[in-house]
Amino acid sequence: MFSAPKGVPDYIPPTSAAFTHVRSTLSRAAELAGYGYVELPVFEDTALFARGVGESTDVVTKEMYTFLDRGERSITLRPEGTAGVMRAVIEHSLDRGQLPVKLYYAGQFFRAEAPQAGRYRQFHQVGIEAIGVDDPALDAEVIAVGDAGFRALGLTGYRLELTSLGDAACRPAYREKLQAFLAKLPLDEPTRQRAELNPLRVLDDKRPEVRELVAEAPLMVDHLCDACREHYERVKGYLTELGVKFVENPRMVRGLDYYTKTTFEFVHDGLGAQSGIGGGGRYDGLMEQLGGQSLSGVGYGLGVDRALLAAQAEGVLPEFSRVDVIGVPLGEAARARLVAIAGELRAAGIRTDLVYGGRSMKAGFKAADKSGARLALVLGERDLEAGVLGVKTLATGEQVSVPLADVVQAVRDGLKPVDLAVPGGTEGLASDAGAEAASRDL
Ligand code: HAM
Repeated sequence: MFSAPKGVPDYIPPTSAAFTHVRSTLSRAAELAGYGYVELPVFEDTALFARGVGESTDVVTKEMYTFLDRGERSITLRPEGTAGVMRAVIEHSLDRGQLPVKLYYAGQFFRAEAPQAGRYRQFHQVGIEAIGVDDPALDAEVIAVGDAGFRALGLTGYRLELTSLGDAACRPAYREKLQAFLAKLPLDEPTRQRAELNPLRVLDDKRPEVRELVAEAPLMVDHLCDACREHYERVKGYLTELGVKFVENPRMVRGLDYYTKTTFEFVHDGLGAQSGIGGGGRYDGLMEQLGGQSLSGVGYGLGVDRALLAAQAEGVLPEFSRVDVIGVPLGEAARARLVAIAGELRAAGIRTDLVYGGRSMKAGFKAADKSGARLALVLGERDLEAGVLGVKTLATGEQVSVPLADVVQAVRDGLKPVDLAVPGGTEGLASDAGAEAASRDL
């Protein structure tokens, strides 16, 4: 017997309905702010990630799924989305058109991390990237769109952490200062090496003894150049205008090297160690680094798997059903007719299933109850002769007789009042929630 590779989740019904709900809700927030969808390959030239994400990052050195394809080319399963979006923007000259280029994506990403709750080797992100305009209002928009996505899911138990990482003008001098500070500390050898390679990461060390040692370390936010400080102040100002709450975390460390200026993370309290439900920031040198013109960019990646865990932990997911209507045929002629009616209902956008397998009336009704449908269509031989059909509301057991010719309208009427009674209506559901989209059309 086979099992899925280690650290790779399957989403099967009914959880898969919650998964697509989370993904489409987060996507919808991006659509509402004018981001256009991009569907990009899940594998790219390895060098794109090495150069884009950073040669010294854990992601590149330890976590990439890299292999030679049949033409001996080095290929990597994408560990993140920003480098690929940038590659596509440059390749298709999108940066030569109207700016900013605003794109969003939803899909699988791959990192060979040690699996644990909320940390997978294949995971899902909904991400957005706004490229080509260096305006702090755009940073604030990006952050607010991520926040709106989580709010639309009903999440409240998270905080937005914000900082600025400076840029090429002020970070090198700060880095030297920090390295000089760290060099004087009695750090163990691996930490000392980390301080050489990526001193900022030492600030984020979780061990209490290291925390104590670096408590007085210089912080980037206190060493920003004037331009970066002004940018940061304006981002905070716009966020306040937008009503987006944040806390500043000057010790935030992101696992990817391309960040400049604004960086942020959404951190959920109910998830244990893997508390980051989303993160992002500005990456002003990336396009040039990848061979394009010198344009700025800002974006985020929201973790769909973790947002789902957060929504489960907060108990904010709605009930999902896979069908609205189920046909219960009583006899062979009735079955033939219900097969045709099911086709008509589906064509009208109503999710419809049938009880199959020539079961007894009792077994048929049991199956109908279990299906999660709101209405059962009951058809017996005598109904057929009389040209009518029973429309039964499964929650109440109430049944009305309807002329066969009017069945589509009767089902629409039968579903509508309940549909309208759903809290929050159907707002917040995006285009790829096919099932929900269908019931919206009723
Ligand atoms: P990231 O912080 O590496 O950023 O990932 C974004 C989110 O993806 C995380 O906050 C987390 O929710 C989710 N995630 C990451 N790794 C895993 C994993 N192993 N298992 C489950 N979920 C995971 C980026 O990827 C950047 N490309 C975001 C960005 C876009 N920055 C600018 N533009």
